[in-house]
Amino acid sequence: MSRRFQHEEEVLAKAYDARLAKRLLGYLSPYRFVVAVSVILLLLVSVSELVGPYLVKVAVDQHISVGDASGLPFLAVLYILSLAAAFLLRYWQVYLMNRTGQQVMADLRQELFAHVQRLSVSFFDKNPVGRLLTRVTNDVEVLNELVTTGVVSIFGDLFTLVGISVVLVAMNARLALVIFLLIPFMFVAALLFRQKARVAYNMIRARIARLNAFMQETLSGVRIVQAFAREAKSMSKFERLNASHCEAYLKSIRYHAIFFPVMELIAATAVALIIWHGGVKTLEGTLTLGVLIAFLQYTRRFFGPISDLSEKYNSMQAAMASSERIFKLLDTVPEIQDSPSPVLLKDVRGDVEFDRVSFSYHEGEEVLRDVSFKVAAGETVAIVGATGAGKTTLMNLLSRFYEPQQGAVRIDGVDVRQVPQKDLRKHIAVVPQEVFLFSGTIEQNLRLGKVHLSQERIEEAARKVRADEFIRRLRRGYGEEVGERGTSLSAGQRQLLSFARALLHEPKILILDEATSSVDPETEHLIRDALRSLLVERTSIVIAHRLSTIRSANNIIVLHKGAVKEQGTHAELLRRGGIYARLSELQFEEQEALPPRQ
Ligand SMILES: Nc1ncnc2c1ncn2[C@@H]1O[C@H](COP(=O)(O)OP(=O)(O)OP(=O)(O)O)[C@@H](O)[C@H]1O
Ligand SMILES: [Mg+2]
Repeated sequence: MSRRFQHEEEVLAKAYDARLAKRLLGYLSPYRFVVAVSVILLLLVSVSELVGPYLVKVAVDQHISVGDASGLPFLAVLYILSLAAAFLLRYWQVYLMNRTGQQVMADLRQELFAHVQRLSVSFFDKNPVGRLLTRVTNDVEVLNELVTTGVVSIFGDLFTLVGISVVLVAMNARLALVIFLLIPFMFVAALLFRQKARVAYNMIRARIARLNAFMQETLSGVRIVQAFAREAKSMSKFERLNASHCEAYLKSIRYHAIFFPVMELIAATAVALIIWHGGVKTLEGTLTLGVLIAFLQYTRRFFGPISDLSEKYNSMQAAMASSERIFKLLDTVPEIQDSPSPVLLKDVRGDVEFDRVSFSYHEGEEVLRDVSFKVAAGETVAIVGATGAGKTTLMNLLSRFYEPQQGAVRIDGVDVRQVPQKDLRKHIAVVPQEVFLFSGTIEQNLRLGKVHLSQERIEEAARKVRADEFIRRLRRGYGEEVGERGTSLSAGQRQLLSFARALLHEPKILILDEATSSVDPETEHLIRDALRSLLVERTSIVIAHRLSTIRSANNIIVLHKGAVKEQGTHAELLRRGGIYARLSELQFEEQEALPPRQ
């Protein structure tokens, strides 16, 4: 995993950042009514919880101590009612806040997914999928905690604290002071815990991210892992990552295990002091027994919110860190932007022109150098060149997945940078080097969401590219599930589907990038025949290593280390005796050298 990744996961954010908080509140605003109701409910919960001990005081002082049993049943019922009310109110409050939390999470995930999907292809060169997944799942989940247990219940905790303080002071100010004296100790303990727990918490997050990333990578490459018998190596690496995650967790557990008993101890000290001091006062007759009992009960409730608050501080801090990362992703602007004064391509003819194009993926590493060529509408041009020469890159520029640093790519004389991306890509279909199928049926993969296509059209396209035969042999035909990335099909079968997909797109410009590299020579031959008629109406750019497939092209461009070295027809290039002639000779010899077929 890259250092940058780790760094990003380990970043320590502030617990409260006004800028982030404001933006987060924006997500709550559609639900502000529910949030307001929830706050009110919580205040009522606090009040109803305050009532209980007070009722006990009244029962002891005004009835039991004076030997008057008459009001006791009423007080007992009130006591039960106050607890029942607290229960119901809390139920509604928890339900409402959790519902809101889920809604906010769903909104945010939706926004993230929509946004990430629109980012330029170059963004995905730099950002591993694993990290993006973490944004959409883990980081969003952390924010949920902020909504459900954070924002609103902090109000509740503070209100309970103030409420109890007021009641205590009203009952007996001196005794209340005994409790208040212990607050600084609690704050010191909470402060220490917060610092330690925060570091441990961030460590946990960073390590779980590392664990996830490793697992994801290993499992998606499981074939290679097994083929090269790397299981043991992977296992031991996983073991190390797993252990380090466990260790971080144990650390945080240790802090929790110390912190909460310490808080208990302080609370117990408060109780002890009240029994001592209050007990003496009661015996002296300056304090009623009821007040003493009420004090003991309130003391327990008083310290709960304090330790809760310091826990919440941690989740606030985590939420800030997560939201920082989420917003950073949301604020990433797509590198490729539609022109503010767009030109729509109407009635595309399909002239393609590369005009002195230079391009590099990374500054200083030029991949294309001053490339110029033209393809007239309806013609077929072939691009040949060694591996890494820049053939696929050329096509990336034509589809405007990247933009050239110099020169221009034009369709019908219009710079592709002026055409809205959607409009541009409507006219171009690519049969890519690496076919990608989505999990789903064959039909869904051919249709790609175009609901208006009839079943006949789909089958017709499949027939034209000779995919129909193998599809019909499948148990469920067009309804066969292809598995994730189409793993249940052979590479050649996937290529045929990719062909049919491109045809259904009805492009004016068709790009075939090594489109027939995985099918057998016989199928390739059949496809070529079928395509011949299809290629007439459209501009086609064929990238091929097997020169036999491109002999009939109107023009052949030989790309060498990012520059056009030769161009012409097959016959012209052979006559020239350059790179193409040499390549052609090599392939011819190879075929000769192969043992005869049986
Ligand atoms: N996304 C990318 N980021 C950075 N460099 C890239 C990227 N894609 C390709 N390259 C580099 O650009 C150069 C040209 O790659 P390209 O894919 O265009 O080659 P190609 O001619 O299609 O090769 P092949 O015949 O193997 O498909 C290579 O050196 C490659 O390392
Ligand atoms: Mg390529």
